[in-house]
Amino acid sequence: MSFTITLIPGDGIGPEVTDAAREVLQAAGVDLTWEVHGAGAAVAEETGNPCPEALVKSIQRNRVALKGPVGTPIGKGFRSVNVTLRRALDLYACVRPVRSLVGVPSRYENVDLVVVRENTEGLYSGLEHMVVPGVAESLKIVTERACQRISEFAYRHARTNHRKRVTIVHKANIMKLTDGLFLDVARRVAQKFPELETTEAIVDACSMQLVRDPSRYDVLVMDNLYGDILSDLTAGLVGGLGVVPGANIGDRCAVFEAVHGSAPDLAGKNLANPTAVVLSSALMLHYMGERDAARRVERAVERVYAETDARTGDLGGNLTTTEFTRRIIALL
Ligand code: NAI
Repeated sequence: MSFTITLIPGDGIGPEVTDAAREVLQAAGVDLTWEVHGAGAAVAEETGNPCPEALVKSIQRNRVALKGPVGTPIGKGFRSVNVTLRRALDLYACVRPVRSLVGVPSRYENVDLVVVRENTEGLYSGLEHMVVPGVAESLKIVTERACQRISEFAYRHARTNHRKRVTIVHKANIMKLTDGLFLDVARRVAQKFPELETTEAIVDACSMQLVRDPSRYDVLVMDNLYGDILSDLTAGLVGGLGVVPGANIGDRCAVFEAVHGSAPDLAGKNLANPTAVVLSSALMLHYMGERDAARRVERAVERVYAETDARTGDLGGNLTTTEFTRRIIALL
């Protein structure tokens, strides 16, 4: 099959790492046409808008996008591109598969879990105000609809990917109404998936257990704030944001992206590690149904770390982005 995909190279190292992913996907033999659209700080400087309408329309048309990191221009009046895309495309599920890569130095060797984060509400609803000088209030919005669809997403994801267990992460012992609603709805959804084991964890205890023994977790589902924090914590268990892929998925569209930033210190130097965006592009292939090509890309990345000494500077090596990408392609 042939596909048209929206590509957002982004700022800083974005163009370098997304070029690397394009080369790897081409070498994997997937027939892709790219519709390239700018977004981020550089585009905002030129046009006054970091997330042009034409980009949103392109993703709505193509339904799949690969995105490099983007900077949010400093100063008031700009909403981040990530938030704009999540809202405009209703990308309600943020998915972070976190797996140990043999050969990447990290604290654990046996991590294989998925963090599923609700992406649209909770404490990130943007409803904050000063009540009186010296007292600020932020509203945590939790709706049954959002709890339902993120729970169903997590359970369906677990089933499709042959996972065994889903852990519902919450703080319902303290936030009895908001997190209580999340927990109730997730429990109800769990009943529709009897083949999957369900466990529950309070977010603080879950954080401690993740650091002590991450192998006990499989798929974890949680609200926006807990998901933001735990997805970075779990990335830290396997070597950091440079090697972890990410996706923002809705019912109609999906945007796949590396979760690291635009690394202005490395921009234009051909030194960035393209692993995260290459693995994100493999997630994209899974989503598109190109599972064989997706597995071959993942396998090539696993082998480059496990079987060779090819490394970029962030992991103690001296290869350029281009050289490291060629080593992945050689193993495809
Ligand atoms: P950052 O992730 O860009 O950099 C943190 C450190 O990690 C730096 O030392 C950088 O050199 C290194 N690093 C990051 N990615 C790397 C890679 N692929 N290979 C090798 N080293 C890598 O985070 P920072 O400095 O907080 O943010 C810089 C800019 O990126 C900001 O404008 C921020 O808004 C944006 N950002 C965008 C994100 C996105 O689009 N998803 C996520 C996080 C930050």
